[in-house]
Amino acid sequence: MQEQWSAVDNWLISALLPQDEILERVLKNNQQAGLPAIDVSPAQGQFLAMLITISGAQRVLEIGTLGGYSAIWMARALPEGGKIVSLEFDPHHGRIAQQNIDLAGVTGKTEIIIGPALESLPNLAQQPPFDFIFIDADKRNNPAYLDWALRLSRPGTLIFGDNVVRNGTITDAQHPDPHVQGIQAFLQDAGQSGRLTATALQTTGIKGWDGFMLARVNH
Ligand code: SAH
Ligand code: DHB
Ligand code: MG
Repeated sequence: MQEQWSAVDNWLISALLPQDEILERVLKNNQQAGLPAIDVSPAQGQFLAMLITISGAQRVLEIGTLGGYSAIWMARALPEGGKIVSLEFDPHHGRIAQQNIDLAGVTGKTEIIIGPALESLPNLAQQPPFDFIFIDADKRNNPAYLDWALRLSRPGTLIFGDNVVRNGTITDAQHPDPHVQGIQAFLQDAGQSGRLTATALQTTGIKGWDGFMLARVNH
């Protein structure tokens, strides 16, 4: 199946997305720096960018920068004066991301904060709320990231959670992997929060069989 998923995804990407030498260079830089190829796909990057444009988001929070690939897609979608704050644990990832962000010309819109996200998030409570929050780091901490996303949001904020399906492992209630357990609790918490309208869609493509959760903070 993977071969077909990739063929269709690549067909869609070449039909719909503009060629982008900078984003291709970014992925090459990541590879040369030894970063894992777990960035969003080009089609997913465009989807994130469109959600930002459609919702009129000006302040974006990303948890999990890696090499800055998704951050660049989102930063480009922001209006003049918009800002993305991206949290990254690994200083090497953060250095490569900063180089890529500079290369893409979105330095003024982007701030990378190095450290465990759970240590950086409390410091963001002094800032105005975020309009769009992309959760894409260590999945075992997703329930805590959802709590923080709610605290750092306003009514209307969109919360986007990546990798919520991971080959269907979520249906296994006995799954031993703490990352799978984190995703399960994240989705259950979102459904029971009482403050969110939430949905999730499964996806197949060059990143395999996976999915995302999209939630809107209502109050
Ligand atoms: N959003 C990126 C991919 C992120 S991959 C993109 O699509 O381009 C997940 C990233 O989260 C990795 O770089 C990893 O180092 C980082 N990460 C893992 N645990 C973390 C933590 N506790 N706090 C912050 N970042 C973390
Ligand atoms: C992994 C993490 C991701 O954010 C992703 O999109 C794919 C894989 C991982 O940790 O394996
Ligand atoms: Mg991801």
